[in-house]
Order: sequence, then C-alpha cells, then structure tokens
Amino acid sequence: MKNTTTAHLRQWKQEQRKFATMTAYDASFARLFAEQGINVMLVGDSLGMTLQGFDSTLPVTIDDIAYHTRCVRRGAPHCLLLSDLPFMSYATPEQAYMSAAELMRAGANMVKLEGGSWLCETVSSLTERAVPVCAHLGLTPQSVNIFGGYKVQGRDRVSAEKLVEDAILLERAGAQLLVLECVPTTLAEQVTQTLNIPVIGIGAGNVTDGQILVMHDALGITGEHTPKFAKNFLAQAGDLRLAVRQYIDEVEQGSYPSEEYSFN
Ligand code: KIV
Repeated sequence: MKNTTTAHLRQWKQEQRKFATMTAYDASFARLFAEQGINVMLVGDSLGMTLQGFDSTLPVTIDDIAYHTRCVRRGAPHCLLLSDLPFMSYATPEQAYMSAAELMRAGANMVKLEGGSWLCETVSSLTERAVPVCAHLGLTPQSVNIFGGYKVQGRDRVSAEKLVEDAILLERAGAQLLVLECVPTTLAEQVTQTLNIPVIGIGAGNVTDGQILVMHDALGITGEHTPKFAKNFLAQAGDLRLAVRQYIDEVEQGSYPSEEYSFN
C-alpha cells in the first residue's frame, strides 16, 4: 500500500475531488479508519476533551500528543498523519522547533498549529527545517478564553476579511494545509477558492476541499455538547465500519455537511 502524502491532497484539490479525514487517537481505530479508506488522520488536542475528560484542550501536553501519535502511527502506517501542537508548545519559533521535533519523531508527517499571521515566522521556519505545517483558523479551540466560548467565527465583515488575509499570509509563509473551523459557508468558500493549498473544513459547510470530524462526534458519543455540525453516522448506519464508510461517501459526494450541519 502506498503512503498518502501532501502531494495527493494537492492533486485532489486540483481535481476537485473532496476527501474525508478524521481524528484518531489509538491504533485500533486508526487501523479501522484506514481499512475503510480514511487516508488522512489527525491526532487532535481534542483528546483533552474526548479522552481525558477536560472541558477544553488547554491541559493537553506535548507528551500526550506524542504518545497518541505513536499509537495511531502503529495502527495506520500509511496514512498522512497530522499531530496538533498543543497550547503553549509553540509560543516562540524555537519552542515550536522542539515541540514539532517530538511529534515528527513520534510518527507525525505534519504538525498543526492554531492562529493567524502572528505565526508566519514560525510556519516558515518550521518549513525550512523540514517540518510541514497545517494552519488552523476560525474557531481555534486553544483561544476559547479569548473568544468567551466555542462560537462561530468570521460572521462580520471585519473579522471575515481578517481571516482571509491571515489565510493568504499563512499560505505564503509555507503552510501546506489549512483547517477551517466553525465559519459561515460563504466565508469558507471564499477561502477555499482563494488558496492554492487544500482547505479542510469542520463546521464550514460542504464547500471546502476536505472535511474533518472528531471521531467521537461522528460516532455519536460526544454527549450533551455535540456541536451543530456533527452528524451521528453510527446511528444512521448501525455498524461502526459502515458508519465510517457512510461518512466518507457523503463527504466525497458533497452531501455532508448539508445546510442542517452548517452555519450561514
Ligand atoms: O483537535 C482537534 O481534533 C482539531 C479538529 C477539531 C480539527 O483540531
């Protein structure tokens, strides 16, 4: 089996072929996801909430992410594996190098970091040092205390323009991928069409190049705080493998996320 690389993602964007990705935290689920056709996985700092039971991602450490990266890599040796740089692990470029090195040694192919143009220097320095970077804009959960909750971002003209500008600057700095979380569909469409790099949406409508879901949301085990954009594919399919397949099919066809699961 061939490894999935960022070149594949760029090609899929060019071919306007939508792709489904998922968070994964352990070897068993990673293997199951890969077997069903998920070729891109993220060890997200969402594990602070889904696995560790915290009410935010802030307590997650680089050791936590490195541990789960090793687990997922063993389960899915050929996937393109993104790992999150957790809160305060990339406050300076130098700190980002050390943190990224830990995750790459653990098996990540790319690191993801949250924030706008203030990260450009970090993104270009990491890229120069052979660490591919995925940027993350919109609702960036590490900033929950600045936002005052998990709220849709980019709803007004000024913040929407700032987001587009940040996305362009991060791409210019060398980011190879962008995750766009909880923004209106029209804004997501503008960003996706403006950027050359693939854009992966979560709560950003069906207009982005790819989609990502936190696996617990897709399987309906998040509990009372399930976000509006999350669809319980397990309830619909009745079987774990069929649920993952259903998610992939709906993303590829563009039927998920429909308006019911999007923000306007
Ligand atoms: O931590 C995470 O799982 C993420 C996704 C929500 C994109 O960043």
